[in-house]
Amino acid sequence: MEIRITRKRKNILFPCINGYQLTQPWSTSGSAQWSFAEKDNQKWFIKQFIAPKFKRESDGVSKEQAERARIRCENFRKRQEFFYGQIRKANTGNVVPVTDFFSFGTYFYAVSPKIDDVGMDPLKISGLSAEQRHLLMKILSYNLTILHQNGIVHADLKPDNVLIKETAKGYTAKLIDFDAGFLESDPKRGEGVSFDPVFAAPETILAFGNSSIDLTCKIDIFALGLLFHLYATGKMPGLPDACVYASQAILEGHAPALDDSLPQELAALIADMLSEKPEQRPTASTVFLRLNSPDQANGFHPPAGFAGNSRKAPT
Ligand SMILES: Nc1ncnc2c1ncn2[C@@H]1O[C@H](COP(=O)(O)OP(=O)(O)OP(=O)(O)O)[C@@H](O)[C@H]1O
Ligand SMILES: [Mg+2]
Repeated sequence: MEIRITRKRKNILFPCINGYQLTQPWSTSGSAQWSFAEKDNQKWFIKQFIAPKFKRESDGVSKEQAERARIRCENFRKRQEFFYGQIRKANTGNVVPVTDFFSFGTYFYAVSPKIDDVGMDPLKISGLSAEQRHLLMKILSYNLTILHQNGIVHADLKPDNVLIKETAKGYTAKLIDFDAGFLESDPKRGEGVSFDPVFAAPETILAFGNSSIDLTCKIDIFALGLLFHLYATGKMPGLPDACVYASQAILEGHAPALDDSLPQELAALIADMLSEKPEQRPTASTVFLRLNSPDQANGFHPPAGFAGNSRKAPT
């Protein structure tokens, strides 16, 4: 006998959050849980924030504790709503925006359109044609140009946060997960600085626990330099044996060793992006323009009118 699992029966296992019917169990990540959902016949990515969360007196906390949690939550709501709105305004089409942000029960949730990515890791990307890899680098630097011109720092650039999607012409890159991000005008400081040590810039390491250092968009340029190296070679730059992270090596006076197989112009660009001092790193628009230089790009040119105001992505 054929066993049929109906949608209703299948979904009964998973919760429905504010109209978003989860289609699989929650996965747990560092600061959140995430899943996929359906609503209005569309597929969504949904993230539940572990903190902050509302507290109720019925859960055994005092009235004062519940009120302090409520204030923390309302400040978080205000900040996130504004931040996600700024990202939506600066979207080139290759940023996956948060389209719905709300509290439900005691938790906050952020929802974005689900991207059907091909699950391509850097090693596979390094096996694509040079032209295709170059296009992915241009898309990312163009995205960052517009974000940075609007003062938006992603702050967690790494392969996991770039989804690769197949297109009619090849592949395109979609930037996700701005949850470590901030506005340059309102930087995260001290204990509020969160980072992945593998891709963190040297000043991010120094800023953790030191409120006198204001991080800028240049932390994204450092991470992008490492990402370019990964995309071009499938490997991270070489580090001395005693060092685990690129920024650690740099702070100890050792420049990461770039792979010999890199074309000269790309190696020079990545070396500049990995400069110790943020002010020595190129801006995202300079990265984009250098990727488009005839030496580097062999025929790629910036889209007409590229001066920073165009929202059209180079795909
Ligand atoms: N819009 C989306 N469409 C499809 N998949 C997505 C989308 N957003 C995120 N994902 C997938 O879910 C994973 C976790 O999402 P996200 O990076 O936002 O959460 P996270 O809490 O930062 O997790 P991590 O710490 O693992 O990066 C991503 O690495 C990606 O594989
Ligand atoms: Mg992530």
